[in-house]
Amino acid sequence: MKNEIILQPARNLVGTLRLPGDKSISHRYAMLAALADGRTVLENFSTGEDCAHTLGCLRALGCGVEQTGGGRVEIEGRGRELGAPSAPLDCGNSGSTMRMLTGILAAQNFASELAGDASLSRRPMARVIEPLTVMGAHISSAEGARPPLRITGAKLRAIDYKMPVASAQVKSSVLFAGLLAEGQTFVEEPLPTRDHGELALQAFGAEITRTRNRVGITGGQKLRAIEAPIPADISTAAFFLCAAALFPESSLTIEDLLLNPTRAAVLDVLAAMGARILTLSLEVHNGELVGTVKLEAAALKGASISGAQTAALIDELPVLAAIAPYTEEGIEIRDARELRVKESDRIAAIAAGLRAMGAEVEEREDGLRIPGRQRLRGARVDSAGDHRIAMAFAVAALRAEGETTLSGAQAAAVSYPEFFATLESLVER
Ligand code: S3P
Repeated sequence: MKNEIILQPARNLVGTLRLPGDKSISHRYAMLAALADGRTVLENFSTGEDCAHTLGCLRALGCGVEQTGGGRVEIEGRGRELGAPSAPLDCGNSGSTMRMLTGILAAQNFASELAGDASLSRRPMARVIEPLTVMGAHISSAEGARPPLRITGAKLRAIDYKMPVASAQVKSSVLFAGLLAEGQTFVEEPLPTRDHGELALQAFGAEITRTRNRVGITGGQKLRAIEAPIPADISTAAFFLCAAALFPESSLTIEDLLLNPTRAAVLDVLAAMGARILTLSLEVHNGELVGTVKLEAAALKGASISGAQTAALIDELPVLAAIAPYTEEGIEIRDARELRVKESDRIAAIAAGLRAMGAEVEEREDGLRIPGRQRLRGARVDSAGDHRIAMAFAVAALRAEGETTLSGAQAAAVSYPEFFATLESLVER
């Protein structure tokens, strides 16, 4: 993929899509497959670089991982005990890989090191180091609890942990450690976050207890391999759905889309803004709700997003912000301080790019207020090395006047390398 891309305005988006598997689920199934007994077969595994890093780490930890084409990945489980790696494990740009693997490596009987790229090396890791240390783990880090993380495996004991930040990565990390610890571990979250870790543990045969915001797991349980298709990534789908929603004549169908209620809030927001969303089929695979969804566009009103809705939409906020100037009433996003510690400072990156395109944007410490009914012009914008920012500006460019030059476009490969080609295949001019 070229690092600088020229984007032209569009008139419409029309078509039917099948997207690669969800990134959050791909990471979790791969990690649990490594800890299971037997050979796991995953279909429609994410094609993103992030999940490739997870597979690379698992190989370095002694797991047989075979990618046999067409999104099929086969993983030979090692039954709870991984193998000592001979070099630092490379997590690339992936916070999920680093945070969730830390929970697993903390309980192994060897030392390991997890490292990442420049962006990941700036991201906060205290959120996993603190609970895992209470469980008995030995983890050292760079200044300010940043990567690289050096982990000396230990016998872990259960914890009853109230998470200070709403983070599904932290929840999964502690639950994975809890699976390998002695006793019953509980994790309580301040707001509901995606529950793929819980559903994946159950799919691999673990018993867990669940109430609205509290999950419990007893250590010492064995996992068994699964055969599973991975539903299409709804956070990737969000870019195409939002792009389609910008043009009243659009019609876009996405097949086998992940519709887990902890992830599907973007559909509710688009519907509340005026888009028609039709669910054409619904199924459950390994506890995950999956369905085919059709979007028919209409003029978009606006939205005000805060609290639990912000947490539920955390990965979709960049693209919602990107379409905000084209709505009637604009979009306000509050309680989104977490956006500042993602792959980039997403609040600053969005504000900078939209302003470069001539938009009026109010940037706040914990969010953004972007008025509606704005006319944007094509300009030079930058992804800040962040996949979701790159894809968000590709969407904003579709309704700008004139062409937009996007630098750092290759960042999209972190979650969806085929993004620009797919977008082009749907666009009518
Ligand atoms: C993820 C959780 C979220 C999300 C990330 C994937 C996950 O991060 O932004 O893209 O798979 O658990 P946090 O746990 O930091 O909120």
